[in-house]
Amino acid sequence: MLNIAVFGSGSGSNYQAIAEAIEKGQLNAQIACVFADNQDAFILERARKFGHPAIYLDCAPFKSKLDGEAEQRAIGMIKEHGGDFIALAGFMRIVKPGLLRAFAGRIVNIHPSLLPNFPGLHAGKQALEAGATETGCTVHFVDEGIDTGPVIIQKRVEILPNDTEETLMNRIHEQEHIAYPEALRRIANGDL
Ligand code: GAR
Repeated sequence: MLNIAVFGSGSGSNYQAIAEAIEKGQLNAQIACVFADNQDAFILERARKFGHPAIYLDCAPFKSKLDGEAEQRAIGMIKEHGGDFIALAGFMRIVKPGLLRAFAGRIVNIHPSLLPNFPGLHAGKQALEAGATETGCTVHFVDEGIDTGPVIIQKRVEILPNDTEETLMNRIHEQEHIAYPEALRRIANGDL
């Protein structure tokens, strides 16, 4: 059974989709703990409601990378909580090699585009500005690149003529909430 440490920075709707799939018996996994690099992130509030350990990970400010010291603290806490797998769910920092080594092949991420298209920030806005007719979401294994690594699952979303970034992102989120539990189910079932 996967024992998942979730990392987020914001709302945590993907974490909630994973936690609900577990509660409904649709995903053979458990949540070890939930980290956020921002004390006010709503993902921590959601984690407390589910009764999962909700941990504020104090990281070096103004840095987009997880600093080495915070990374070591996170590794220690994941082990304390029995975690053996990491799901990045809206975590807006780049994971460093130490964490990648400690959880080799056991870190996944979700990104709001059909990678390799539109990596990085504001993927929905990038798709609109590029005049794309479709985009979507991707769950992938994490490697040392930014939004690179082997793809596990992708879901397509059509871009409609009147879409704003908000309307498009809302439809992408709906697909993400299906895709993330499905990707984890494939891993938990050994289908990959
Ligand atoms: C999701 O759309 C996820 O794909 C994106 O952040 C959002 C988090 O939403 N991640 C990235 O852009 C990572 N490159 P949530 O906090 O409601 O799950």
